[in-house]
Amino acid sequence: MTVEVAPSILSADFGELRQQVQLIQTAGAKTIHVDVMDGHFVPPLSMGPQVCEALRDLDVDLEVHLMVESPEKTQVEAFAVAGAKTIIVHAEATSAVDYTLALIRDHGCAAGLAVNPATPLAIYEEVQLDQALCMTVNPGWGGQKFIPSSVEKITRLRAIIGPDVVLEVDGGVDRATAGLCVAAGANRLVAGSAIFGHEDPVAAFNDILNAATDRD
Ligand code: DX5
Ligand code: ZN
Repeated sequence: MTVEVAPSILSADFGELRQQVQLIQTAGAKTIHVDVMDGHFVPPLSMGPQVCEALRDLDVDLEVHLMVESPEKTQVEAFAVAGAKTIIVHAEATSAVDYTLALIRDHGCAAGLAVNPATPLAIYEEVQLDQALCMTVNPGWGGQKFIPSSVEKITRLRAIIGPDVVLEVDGGVDRATAGLCVAAGANRLVAGSAIFGHEDPVAAFNDILNAATDRD
């Protein structure tokens, strides 16, 4: 199972966003995690599809994490058109989960489903998806502390989705928690503040990747 670290630009310097993405590409990052917040599903506002438009010519896969209510109404299409490769929606944010995952695929993107820490995993037994996202903090802000009980939840989630679906974790991932997540079954790790909040984002990226893959 290939393990990947996906830097979240939520913690990047937005005045130099393009350069920050290019910098982390030099470390080997292939997937850039784009955190979209609507001020309703989570309190903050963050960024819209224009950010994907601005980055789409770079040779990276844009993975959009939609922390928005009713993403099926307009945002799935808007981000697909803006260049998203993967679109992740929250189970708590729509009453039309199955429809929304199909809509994402109809737009040519990989379909992901996220759950908050307090949300049960049962929904993953009912849907077809390319990626599962286990939130390891409550969504809305970067820089929070990893919730330790997430490790056991990741193990249960992997058992439900099987070996072929990407299992991503998001929140509080750093070089101390990365290995725990991978040992439990995660194969994509989002890291925001641990990379872009570090004085040397390239070294931080490599440290997390090494911690994630160094398990005997
Ligand atoms: C939280 C976001 C995360 C966040 C992670 O709502 O979904 O992707 O940027 O940030 P860190 O890595 O700082 O916890
Ligand atoms: Zn995220």
